[in-house]
Amino acid sequence: MHKLKVAVIGAGVMGHGIAEVFSLYGNEVYLYDKYPDALEKGLKNILWSLNKLKEKGKITDTERVFSRIKPVNDLSQISDAELVIEAVSENLDLKSSVFKQVSKIVSKDSIIATNTSSLPISELAQSVENPHRFLGLHFFNPPVLMKLVEVVKGVKTDDLIFSKGIEIIKSIEKVPIPVRKDVIGFVVNRILFRIFTSACKLLKEYSVEEIDSLAKYILEFPMGIFELLDYTGIDTNYLISNEVRKRGFDFTCEILKELYEKGYYGAKVGKGFYDWS
Ligand code: CAA
Repeated sequence: MHKLKVAVIGAGVMGHGIAEVFSLYGNEVYLYDKYPDALEKGLKNILWSLNKLKEKGKITDTERVFSRIKPVNDLSQISDAELVIEAVSENLDLKSSVFKQVSKIVSKDSIIATNTSSLPISELAQSVENPHRFLGLHFFNPPVLMKLVEVVKGVKTDDLIFSKGIEIIKSIEKVPIPVRKDVIGFVVNRILFRIFTSACKLLKEYSVEEIDSLAKYILEFPMGIFELLDYTGIDTNYLISNEVRKRGFDFTCEILKELYEKGYYGAKVGKGFYDWS
């Protein structure tokens, strides 16, 4: 597959990691965020991660990889992108507005993808011009280390675009999970949201640390369940829980709301279920 011009919209926890992965495999990447601070933080995180990879002997030339990532704060700068991946917050209106703008800026042949974890692809497709070229490319956090990516077909996604999505994911040496049924939570989160909900219910009887020990030492999860909620972001998970509940999927966790309202967004702010400072 030829190297692509990729644009990642949103430089947050997922966006910066997705941009990094595409750059690691030789693709030119635009990283867009409308907030300069977020863009700067995203670039800093990419540099940190590239240096970690270098330290471990996985890459040699961090500068070359970093130089392939072009930060932009004006969407019109991504006009020649062949693949656009949206990674903004889990908010239908926000994502829809991104798709409306992007559809007008890039070529009609460009593939437009969303990294949503909770919103149906077919619902988001309503804001994309020519929705046959729209699909889900759902990465997991941290994108640079996690092997799986869900490739999700919406009702209007063309079969060829779906196959191309799978090829693109293979080209960055990830393992694609083809998801042909556009259901809430796709595949992974239909399991994960249930685990989160069960763990939250257990908080009436057991502590965060006790439940996380069980997850790590008995179930052999790489992280505790609450540790993972902090790691992926309390804000992200709270927004996801609201979106999926609206669509009939039970992801209920009272304490997520409490932490969200206090601004305890997890690892990225230093406080969530755990103190990360
Ligand atoms: N880039 C480069 N290096 C990184 C990194 C990154 N982004 N993140 C961590 N590392 C480094 C660490 O700093 C560490 O380096 P040192 O050895 O120098 O300390 C090294 O990788 C290993 O990390 P850990 O010691 O923490 O050990 P680990 O082997 O457990 O790996 C992990 C880390 C891959 C994150 C692992 O803990 C894990 O798999 N956790 C679960 C993650 C998961 O389930 N993600 C999906 C969540 S759901 C989601 O994303 C989306 C959604 O839909 C809600």
